[in-house]
Amino acid sequence: MRGIVKRFPGVLAVNHVDFDVQASEIHALLGENGAGKSTLMKMLYGLYHPDEGRIILDGNEVRIHSPHDAIQRGIGMIHQHFMLVPSLTVAENIALGMRSTRGLILDLDVVSRRVQELSEQYNLRVDPQTPIWQLAVGEQQRVEIIRALYRGASLLILDEPTAVLTPQEVDDLFRVLRQMTADGHALIFISHKLHEVLAISHRITVLRDGQKVGTIPTGEATRVKLAEMMVGRPVVLEYDRPPVERGPERLRLVSVSARSDRGDLGLKEVSLSVHAGEILGIAGVSGNGQRELAQVIAGLRPVTSGSIELDGRDVTGALPTTLIGLGLCYIPEERMVDGVIKEFTVAENFVLQDHGRANYTRAGIFLNFGAITRACRQAIRAYEIKTPGTDVPVKTLSGGNIQKLILARELTRSPQVIVAAQPTRGVDIGATEYIHRRLLEQRSQGAAILLISEDLDEIMALSDRIGVMYEGRMVGIIPRASADVNTVGAMMAGATLEQL
Ligand SMILES: Nc1ncnc2c1ncn2[C@@H]1O[C@H](COP(=O)(O)OP(=O)(O)OP(=O)(O)O)[C@@H](O)[C@H]1O
Ligand SMILES: [Mg+2]
Repeated sequence: MRGIVKRFPGVLAVNHVDFDVQASEIHALLGENGAGKSTLMKMLYGLYHPDEGRIILDGNEVRIHSPHDAIQRGIGMIHQHFMLVPSLTVAENIALGMRSTRGLILDLDVVSRRVQELSEQYNLRVDPQTPIWQLAVGEQQRVEIIRALYRGASLLILDEPTAVLTPQEVDDLFRVLRQMTADGHALIFISHKLHEVLAISHRITVLRDGQKVGTIPTGEATRVKLAEMMVGRPVVLEYDRPPVERGPERLRLVSVSARSDRGDLGLKEVSLSVHAGEILGIAGVSGNGQRELAQVIAGLRPVTSGSIELDGRDVTGALPTTLIGLGLCYIPEERMVDGVIKEFTVAENFVLQDHGRANYTRAGIFLNFGAITRACRQAIRAYEIKTPGTDVPVKTLSGGNIQKLILARELTRSPQVIVAAQPTRGVDIGATEYIHRRLLEQRSQGAAILLISEDLDEIMALSDRIGVMYEGRMVGIIPRASADVNTVGAMMAGATLEQL
């Protein structure tokens, strides 16, 4: 890609960028939220067309008109947000949009057989007959990769493929990617996690504000250097946790059980309590009940037994709106689904849960747009959310900037109890630093915080106590002071405190 330029109304998203990738190479693309990574790649995949610049594929200048065209030329893309149809099976999703020669039904066993072959060749375990909705996120991603390989991709773009994966799934993915490069594929890998980029890539290109900062061989890169290239200033990668007097108990769960989406008991007799001025970190590989835990507290999933108390009041089975009224704030894990309405503007999304709040209404009925816009602008500045304004549809923001908007909305409500699920997933380092500071600030102000994260560094940096979940149970809860990475790691694999 040479001299690529892409403008959107009010935004120069990609500004004269040169980028290249070779066969058998993994080229990582780094940059803060809104730097232009996805936009640059969408031009290579034919979703957008460059305003200026040239794309040269195997030595020939090409115009890539559409994703269909890109696929014909051997370019595949795994998007930041998956694009599978939940009600269809794996094989049906892979067959979808492909020309059928003999009618859908017959083609499906051909597809299934080829899927089987590819999954064996690359060790991508999936059952072609399973409907997508029954698959864990990591499995859905395998389906996306198989689909790209099925269509003959020799150049594969992976836009934040690890953002939704467990550490175990990341290892599996990396094995697949290495196998692919050994077979001569060219891979472009986007991630905000520097250790991953350092572990998997051969070269790294950093973008900032639509411009290329530089391309370096991975051997010459360090975390500190990359962070500085991305942000344009040195970044703090550690925090002070100021001492805070632990206050009264605000959140209490007694022996709570709940079903998962698959119908089995995803949460098994979990008891915990969080006090004012305290962060209880929940570590564990995701898929071990964390999602169910967060959702029962937020009133989004019924409990099958047990009770939940907020400030001493029984709120088992209460509606989400009641809980919000009682000062509960929930930062959902699946923010794109549960957190925003894509067609609504930035300002509208900013007041989604809050439109009834006194400062945003006039005479208790009419929305006070002046106040909303002002509060929203302030959040945009504080969280450095990249958007041309408050009145553009939220769907035009970059993935990470949507995340920041939801966090800004939730954390500006001065909540009493915060349930934060994967709060920094998909968010760049500058914003991660900011979000961590905000959580610590809420803690100092007396909020009780339940922090659910797969990022062990994040759990260690912020928590006062650490709980570990495994197969729906709380394996144990220990004070931060006696938790080291080995102990917590062993607990994440299911070891109980007695065994350690
Ligand atoms: N369809 C669109 N319409 C208007 N603006 C857009 C559109 N797509 C992207 N942008 C803008 O272009 C800029 C670059 O966005 P892009 O999605 O490429 O960022 P990114 O580097 O992928 O960020 P992230 O890490 O958050 O995913 C952002 O300012 C974004 O708001
Ligand atoms: Mg992106």
